[in-house]
Amino acid sequence: MKIAVIHGPNLNLLGLREPSVYGKKTLKSINDALFEKSLVLGVEVEFFQSNSEGEIVDYIQLLPEREFKGIIINPAAYTHTSVAIRDAILAVDLPFVEVHLSNIFAREEFRHRSLFSDVALGVISGLGYRGYIYALDYIVMVLKQDGNL
Ligand code: DQA
Repeated sequence: MKIAVIHGPNLNLLGLREPSVYGKKTLKSINDALFEKSLVLGVEVEFFQSNSEGEIVDYIQLLPEREFKGIIINPAAYTHTSVAIRDAILAVDLPFVEVHLSNIFAREEFRHRSLFSDVALGVISGLGYRGYIYALDYIVMVLKQDGNL
């Protein structure tokens, strides 16, 4: 019943960081909204934010033995660069939804490419903090249908 919510680099600065692009909500308020949604859905969520690629890889590697069933991840800048995080997710073989606050396809060209999208269940990009809520709703529905919850 456990879903990991992973936030990549600089997302600890949400609220202060480019609010016109990423919104005014802090990471804590996004996590609080997700926690509320988890109560409604009857699942457990764990939040992890790191600015370090290796820490994110280490965190992902331990998820199966900790009995996590799915992942919601905003890899932030690592979306466009990190083969290591992509490989970690493939290694643990957990279903995941990729979330971006901004619409990466409406921004600079280097943001158009994601190293995660082709192996994600799906991608939510440009719906602001609500994207995380929709992602949680979706992944829980899919896992329940698969009998994993
Ligand atoms: C982001 C988009 C990325 O391109 C950027 O590097 C981020 C945040 C988003 O949520 O819109 O840090 O993932």
